[in-house]
Amino acid sequence: MKFLPRAIAAALLFCPLATLASPAAEPATERQPVALPPAIRDQFLADMRDHLSEISQIHAALADGAFDRAADIAEQRLGFAAPSSAACRMPGMALAHTAPDQHLDRMMDNSEMTKFMPKEMHMVGYRMHTAADRFAQTARKAAATSDYRSALYALSKVTQQCVACHTQFKLAKR
Ligand code: HEC
Repeated sequence: MKFLPRAIAAALLFCPLATLASPAAEPATERQPVALPPAIRDQFLADMRDHLSEISQIHAALADGAFDRAADIAEQRLGFAAPSSAACRMPGMALAHTAPDQHLDRMMDNSEMTKFMPKEMHMVGYRMHTAADRFAQTARKAAATSDYRSALYALSKVTQQCVACHTQFKLAKR
């Protein structure tokens, strides 16, 4: 007689926990798989590894107080002057800066990679390169006063776009 209420209490306690721990539970957001031909895939991932290295070099330059060096790396390797930005460029960039969404359709053929990217991925890439160019401008201004806070804040806007894309997309399995 004493056992029964305890068993019910235990069942009530563990039921919700068991539901949470269930292997059938789906992750909150599924990343969208993007299929790329092998050669483009290899180049894309090599660019990604370079990007991580560039972010690391920018941090090291800032730590040295070398704001201009940090700006150069961002501009030449991560901004729209970087060869790896080709897939994310928009023809008529001046217009694109004001309303990129409206110009996307006729820009999709500007590089091989672009053909395979979902529009939203293109947009996140566009925002990442834009943030890198803005960081470069901010870092050059910050040099005069050693304004680390504004330089680091602008750099965080770049890495936020790395995170945004990685949260939404993955490459499809080979
Ligand atoms: C427009 C989308 C996008 C942006 C922006 C982006 N990435 Fe990626 N990155 C990806 C995708 C997709 C993968 C493949 C992930 C997967 O399949 O799990 C990837 C993979 C990587 C990898 C792994 C490379 C390998 O060899 O496996 C690194 C490192 C990386 N990204 C760094 C960065 C850094 C640093 C930035 C920002 C400066 C960045 N990425 C910005 C989409 C992006």
